[in-house]
Amino acid sequence: MSFIIAANWKMNKGPKETRQFFDTFKEINSDPSIKTLFFVPAVDASETARSLSQTSYGWGPQNIFPAGSGAFTGETSPQVMSELGARYVLVGHSERRQLFFETDEQTNVKIHSALDFDLSPILCVGETLSERKNGTTLEVLNRQLVAALSNVQIKNELHIAYEPVWAIGTGEVANTEQVSEAHQSIRSFLKEKYPDQQQKIKILYGGSVKPNNAEELSKAQEVGGFLVGGASLKPDSFVDIIKAVQG
Ligand code: PGA
Repeated sequence: MSFIIAANWKMNKGPKETRQFFDTFKEINSDPSIKTLFFVPAVDASETARSLSQTSYGWGPQNIFPAGSGAFTGETSPQVMSELGARYVLVGHSERRQLFFETDEQTNVKIHSALDFDLSPILCVGETLSERKNGTTLEVLNRQLVAALSNVQIKNELHIAYEPVWAIGTGEVANTEQVSEAHQSIRSFLKEKYPDQQQKIKILYGGSVKPNNAEELSKAQEVGGFLVGGASLKPDSFVDIIKAVQG
């Protein structure tokens, strides 16, 4: 399967800006060999579905509540997202973990729910700066993976995004060695847990990916894609990242 480049818009853009973005993006992006996904705010789901129908681009929400419907004020239903045409979902982004106190156990419940509603999860893992400084990076990644993937069978697709928390939105990017080390450790875990299916699981890097560092990062060990925040908000910088990976 090809390299994946996923956009995480976070809490940016409304439906009008979403439409404008996709109009421009479809016009200027000419590379179908890179699998491109968009994680959009739930309020932009309908417009995204409309804009991306008849294209090969995938999309999904940035978070879900693990139930189809019910008395869960303010939450996003995976069932409705799936009905609208979403095929993917982000789970356990570090902003969910840090700002909304999402636990490892909740990431596991959400992954199960996503799979129940035919959404392919992209599970985000990553260490904080203090965890890196005290040398526990690989331990943290392992803990997050073990918990989130407990009793999870792979249905269609499932991917992992390694996002060091200290590199998100900071302009500070992990170096190739740090990325390779983390990705290789995640791959070892996957080889053990899913010996027959691990090859189809991509490990994305996220954290200040920009047009000027994308090519180098794409060459680090086991990098099978990117999760891009800030630089995915403008069609031209996002397309420049896609082009940089094409070489
Ligand atoms: P960034 O965000 O590219 O702005 O660092 C990445 C992410 O949070 O997924």
